[in-house]
Amino acid sequence: DRPPLARTPPMGWNSWNAVGCGVNQQLITDTVDAFVAKGLKGAGYEYVTIDDCWSLKQRDADGRLVADPGKFPNGMAWLADYAHAKGLKLGIYGDAGTSTCAGYPGSLGHETTDAQTFADWGIDYLKYDNCNNQGLPAQDRYRAMGEAIAATGRPIVYSICEWGANRPWEWGTSVGGQLWRTTGDITDDWDSVKTIIRKNLTLAPYAGPGHWNDPDMLQVGNGGMTDHEYRTHFALWAMMAAPIMIGTDLNSASPQTLELLLNRGLVAVDQDRLGRQAAVVSESGGAYVLAKPLADGSVAVALYNENDYAVTISTTAAAAGLPRAGAYRLSDLFTGEELHSNGVLKAGVPAHGVTVYRVAPAGPGAPAPATPARSFGLT
Ligand code: DGJ
Repeated sequence: DRPPLARTPPMGWNSWNAVGCGVNQQLITDTVDAFVAKGLKGAGYEYVTIDDCWSLKQRDADGRLVADPGKFPNGMAWLADYAHAKGLKLGIYGDAGTSTCAGYPGSLGHETTDAQTFADWGIDYLKYDNCNNQGLPAQDRYRAMGEAIAATGRPIVYSICEWGANRPWEWGTSVGGQLWRTTGDITDDWDSVKTIIRKNLTLAPYAGPGHWNDPDMLQVGNGGMTDHEYRTHFALWAMMAAPIMIGTDLNSASPQTLELLLNRGLVAVDQDRLGRQAAVVSESGGAYVLAKPLADGSVAVALYNENDYAVTISTTAAAAGLPRAGAYRLSDLFTGEELHSNGVLKAGVPAHGVTVYRVAPAGPGAPAPATPARSFGLT
């Protein structure tokens, strides 16, 4: 028996938000190298995925997809070997229609051949898009590829890129998928992130080990948002147990971008073995309290402000689902500060900002905080 796929939300990088159709072999090998050199592999990032525009416009004489030799001179099997040799995995993109969104050959009616081609190349992850679908039922089209992947016998994570139009959260698992898009495409601006968060938060019951809501890939580092907004983007994806697919060019990523992507406390929240997506504890005037129960009995609590002005947001440990205790220990996952509380969880949160606390009861026998704790919330 092989281990289940995507037991925790997949982590990696995808070319689309970084370079669009500008994919090539050098970009992918550079990204694989950057995963190792910049500590991303060590932090858990694993899949390097080539999105649209990698193939020739024509299939070969046997009906197989062909990697564009101008862009990928050594071919895809070579590239998969390159990633595997560094302990990483290679993802690729296909489309459940007659052609991809950018006009390359789609897999509709070619599912068996294409899944086998991907397996023969050593591909580990397939993102399967929904353009040019001829109006055929989504479930049937996505099931055809899910079955074709299963028939290859190769463990390939199956990412259903259906954009949420046909409620893929209700059938994604039954067609063999491990994740499904819940919204249209993310763009590099605050409105897009805010809108996606609102939608994806409503789908918490559908997420769990091996089956994840996908609010789309990260825009962190691409320049269209403020530092606060990118921090919120990343933190909310972690709270929502979302796949974390970096969408920026790692060769030019700033130290701040890398620091955010490497935030171990937030990555641990995302990857927590319990696999729960944060629930909304309360929402009032754009001030949200979100709680994500974690495997060690602690709870990640996010105080999230979608407004264009600062607010103070507060809740209690009990409301966030923590057991009754005389005192609680809080780690602020952005500052690393260790705090004590009597059960009030509260913060001043800037416009479009978030504070995330990892909260645990601090009773007798509870481990002491690593640094001297500041007390607050004691009234
Ligand atoms: C639409 C998808 O939603 C995007 O993530 C990206 O894959 C593009 N298609 C590529 O054409």
